[in-house]
Amino acid sequence: MADDPVRSPRQPGKARALPGHVGIRALRQHLPEVISTVQQTGQAVPITHHGKRVATLVPASQDPALPQIIAFASLKGGAGKSTLSMHLAAAMSKDRSVVVLDADEETSVWKWKLMAEENGLRLPFDVQVASRNTLVRTARQLANQGHTVVIDTPPNNREILKTAALVANLVLVPVLPTGIDMDRLGTTIELLQEVEAAKPDFSWAVVLNRAEARRRLVREAKEALGEYPKLRNAVRSLAAYATVFGAVPTELAEFEALWEEIKSVFQADEVEA
Ligand SMILES: Nc1ncnc2c1ncn2[C@@H]1O[C@H](COP(=O)(O)OP(=O)(O)O)[C@@H](O)[C@H]1O
Ligand SMILES: [Mg+2]
Repeated sequence: MADDPVRSPRQPGKARALPGHVGIRALRQHLPEVISTVQQTGQAVPITHHGKRVATLVPASQDPALPQIIAFASLKGGAGKSTLSMHLAAAMSKDRSVVVLDADEETSVWKWKLMAEENGLRLPFDVQVASRNTLVRTARQLANQGHTVVIDTPPNNREILKTAALVANLVLVPVLPTGIDMDRLGTTIELLQEVEAAKPDFSWAVVLNRAEARRRLVREAKEALGEYPKLRNAVRSLAAYATVFGAVPTELAEFEALWEEIKSVFQADEVEA
């Protein structure tokens, strides 16, 4: 194809699939083709002017506006951090490369992966273990390599919660709509507000988990959450979420909706900025 707009940098005269670059003039003429190449290959295409890179067209799955590091955190155990980490990671894997970092010494998501492997199953994302000392470095390295990172954190550990929040772009706080969980939320949120005050490029939101069964509780929980940021999409209590430990999460509709909501919030922020 003589007029393939995406050309090899080493052989400018010769059209090649990728890696390649597009000169500004070619971009004007061939924008739809260049965009579909980026979408189909999932690879970024440099835009050049007089042989110098002036911009890069990146696929939506690498959109820099989206959070690259998402941590699930709550000082309360049993709120659903590990369950939601694995399900959101599975939903996100449909349009990007995801790595779950297990920062909990109990290593429940790491064990989940090992058990899946023993059963001959392959999760659609990688799971790695990180300690408090390695968490920041590992998360940043993975994000720089183009992975979206999901950090699962332990309960009752302020240090790791803070470390995870410091490296994350977004912290999601799962909370069960019960009085005792709502009560414990305050300490988690205080910590997140400290991080928020110290760091730009940081957001957090509450996610109601096991929300549908007790409508009155859910209503009260929403009232109690008041002005705290919360996701519109909640997660229901489903047997499928509890019994999938050690296997590939497949019940993903609610997590796809959650991911779409996160994407739309972050992309909207970018437009307003
Ligand atoms: N939405 C849900 N539906 C059904 N079971 C859930 C749900 N969320 C969590 N669970 C179950 O509740 C227990 C605690 O969840 P877990 O994710 O381990 O919490 P955490 O990691 O915050 O301690 C687990 O047995 C898990 O399977
Ligand atoms: Mg856990």
